[in-house]
Amino acid sequence: MNFYNNLLNNKPKLLIKIDNMTIKKYSIHPSSFVSEKASIGEGTQIWHFSHIREGVKIGKNVNIGQNVYIDKDVVIGDNCKIQNNVSVYKGVTIKNNVFVGPSVVFTNDIYPVSSEWSDEKIVETLIDDEVSIGANSTIVAGITIGKMTLVGAGSVVTKNVPNNCIAYGNPAKVKSEDYRKE
Ligand SMILES: CC(C)(COP(=O)(O)OP(=O)(O)OC[C@H]1O[C@@H](n2cnc3c(N)ncnc32)[C@H](O)[C@@H]1OP(=O)(O)O)[C@@H](O)C(=O)NCCC(=O)NCCS
Repeated sequence: MNFYNNLLNNKPKLLIKIDNMTIKKYSIHPSSFVSEKASIGEGTQIWHFSHIREGVKIGKNVNIGQNVYIDKDVVIGDNCKIQNNVSVYKGVTIKNNVFVGPSVVFTNDIYPVSSEWSDEKIVETLIDDEVSIGANSTIVAGITIGKMTLVGAGSVVTKNVPNNCIAYGNPAKVKSEDYRKE
C-alpha cells in the first residue's frame, strides 16, 4: 500500500528536455508512462496513470488528465484539454484548443475482429480547432468534426459534423447552427 500511497502523493515531475536545440519544460506524474519516442510540448502537464505511446506528438500547454491512453503516432495540437479516462487511438488527429470531455472514446476500426488487426484497417478521424466533445461520447472512426463545434454529452458521432454547430444524440445530429464563429 505504501508504494501506491507514495506514488499518488508524488507531485508531477518537471522535466527539462533539450529537443532539436530548444529547451522544453513539461511535467509528468511519476505514475504515468511516456515513451521516449513521444514528443511533448512546452508547458504540457500529464497527470496520474496515463500512457503516451511511441511516435505521439503533443503540442504546447496541453493538459492530459488521469488514466488517459494516447496510442502510437497520434497528433494533438496546442492548448488542448484531454479529461480523465479518455482513449485516443492511432489514426486520430486532434488540432489546437480542443476540449475532450471525461471518458470520451475514439475508435479506429469500423469492423473490429479480435483475431484480425493490421494498420491497414485504421480509418482516420480529424477533430478540428476549438472543438469541444461532451462527456462519455463515442466518436466512430472516419469522420471530421468541424471547427468550434460542440458535441453534447453521451453522443455517438457517426458522420461528419460541420463547423460552428451544436450536435448531440445517438446518432449525433446537428441541433443548432451558428454556435461560435472564428
Ligand atoms: C448539448 C448541450 C450543449 C445542449 O445544451 P442546450 O442547448 O442548453 O440544450 P437544452 O439543455 O435546452 O436541451 C434541449 C433538449 O435537448 C436535450 N438534450 C440536451 N443535451 C443532450 C444530450 N447531450 N444528449 C441528448 N439530448 C440532449 C434536452 O433534454 C432537451 O430535450 P427536450 O427539448 O425534449 O426537453 C448540453 O446538454 C451538453 O450536453 N453539454 C456538454 C456537457 C459536457 O459533457 N461537459 C463536459 C465537461 S464536464
